[in-house]
Amino acid sequence: MKNKTYHRNIFQRIFGICATKQPQDEGCWCVENGKIIVNLSRATELEHRNGAIRLEGKELSNRVLVIKDNNDEYHAFSNHCTHMGRRLDPVPGAVQCCSIGKSTFDYGGKKISGSSKKDLTTYSVTIEGDKLLIEL
Ligand code: FES
Repeated sequence: MKNKTYHRNIFQRIFGICATKQPQDEGCWCVENGKIIVNLSRATELEHRNGAIRLEGKELSNRVLVIKDNNDEYHAFSNHCTHMGRRLDPVPGAVQCCSIGKSTFDYGGKKISGSSKKDLTTYSVTIEGDKLLIEL
């Protein structure tokens, strides 16, 4: 399966511009009963390992980053770096703030390196058929 990587240049880091996009198919996700439901057959960005989407707006009170790791497992995170709130992107085995401070967190949200002093909020995920359910 194709492996996707995310690169950010120095200008992106200075201005805090993340590499992860919102899904091309806006209708691939919704919020119901305190859960995000992602239709995996429509979220093409998550077909590939290290694929990611950022979910924002709709009824969400918090931005969410969803990634598929190298073992084809999904993870969901609060998409606010615990340093200064910038967005994150996947890096091999972790997620990393797009800013210069490069705070990096493991899949459990534990801080590995960078400017942040706190861990990152994660959300539990389950799969039902072709739906990814994210418990908020
Ligand atoms: S905002 Fe993430 S490292 Fe500063």
